[in-house]
Amino acid sequence: MLNKSSTGSQLCRLAVILTVAVLISLTVMFVWTSPQTFCLPQQLLIKPDSDRHHVEKNNSLDEAMVDKPILLLWVWPQDYRFDLNDCKTIYNIDGCHLTDDRSLYSNTDAVLIFHRAISQDLSTLPPSPRPPFQKWIWMNVESPTNTQQIPGIENLFNLTLSYREDSDIPVRLRLTSNKIPDEDFKIPKKERLICWVVSNNLKWTGVGMRNAYFHELSKHVYIHVYGKAYGSFLDYNDYFPTIASCKFYLAFENSIHKDYITEKLNGPLAVGTVPVVLGPPRKNYERFIPGDSFIHVDDFPDAKSLAEYLKRLDLDDEAYRRYFNWRRHFSARPHLILQNQEFVLAICTACDYVGRHKEYKEAHDIYEWFFN
Ligand SMILES: *[C@@H]1O[C@H](CO)[C@@H](O)[C@H](O)[C@H]1NC(C)=O
Ligand SMILES: *[C@@H]1O[C@H](CO)[C@@H](O)[C@H](O)[C@H]1NC(C)=O
Repeated sequence: MLNKSSTGSQLCRLAVILTVAVLISLTVMFVWTSPQTFCLPQQLLIKPDSDRHHVEKNNSLDEAMVDKPILLLWVWPQDYRFDLNDCKTIYNIDGCHLTDDRSLYSNTDAVLIFHRAISQDLSTLPPSPRPPFQKWIWMNVESPTNTQQIPGIENLFNLTLSYREDSDIPVRLRLTSNKIPDEDFKIPKKERLICWVVSNNLKWTGVGMRNAYFHELSKHVYIHVYGKAYGSFLDYNDYFPTIASCKFYLAFENSIHKDYITEKLNGPLAVGTVPVVLGPPRKNYERFIPGDSFIHVDDFPDAKSLAEYLKRLDLDDEAYRRYFNWRRHFSARPHLILQNQEFVLAICTACDYVGRHKEYKEAHDIYEWFFN
């Protein structure tokens, strides 16, 4: 009896020890074999925690400067001023401390320098030597046709910002994909066949080609023309509604260069109108938007056949509707159209870049790159 019960309690103790041992070794093995699962949350936690702390304490200038790189807007491009908080409120870009306060120069991580504001004698550039950690950004939103070559700045910069995709900081409003197909899109009510909004008609800006094509096209089909250049100024509030009311919109660039595809294309895409583009080759457009979302003038041997095609589409709703198939999976959004907002996207894109990149960088022979 005594033996039996002692054997029983021994067995019982053994079972408990074994169970505990198995549990311990399982735990050890689990921790051992999945280090990432255990380390990562800790790393992830540190950041939001300090961020929160930061916001609670204060959002003032000095506070923000402690960890966000400073981006100094050396001059306001064309003196178009906007609220420096717009990057946050419009694009949710908050990676840098954006300022126009030159007294922060010696502490500035990056300086944004607008090409057209550089004087021939270079006296409008920031002072040299620059702090060793500081980067200068060459900002140019014009095409080569409308860019003046100021000698002496070819090797001064660290980063390039332009419409070119091979810039360090390419600037463009892009289509975004929707995981859930959008089935709700309705083509807006159309009241006109073809429209064109044109504000600049200055010869030296290279508009000769688009004017010639427009002139030829208008011989075969009526085009509603709006804008400063034609004396019928379109109010900002009417810009998108007017484009939406047309079946086709002439998105003609002022000069033809690789990647030089401007907001002229974005307007019709955003509001539900088919763009008819004149600019770089179709393949270049297809880098940014689906091939069945637009009509390229190069798709036709001449303006007359384009006009005939557009008139045919006017009578064929089914074929016209196919130009909007892309909308189920991608979205375009309206661009900023107020005059003083012309450079907001470029400046905010620079802010976003500066917030993410600390790498050493030199930009060499910027003209050779930009003009050739
Ligand atoms: C935060 O900074 C602002 C200046 O931007 C200042 O007026 C305010 O008193 C500060 N608040 C605290 C709690 O330090
Ligand atoms: C920026 O470029 C200049 C000139 O090319 C170079 O001297 C400087 O070291 C660069 N600085 C950084 C932070 O990349």
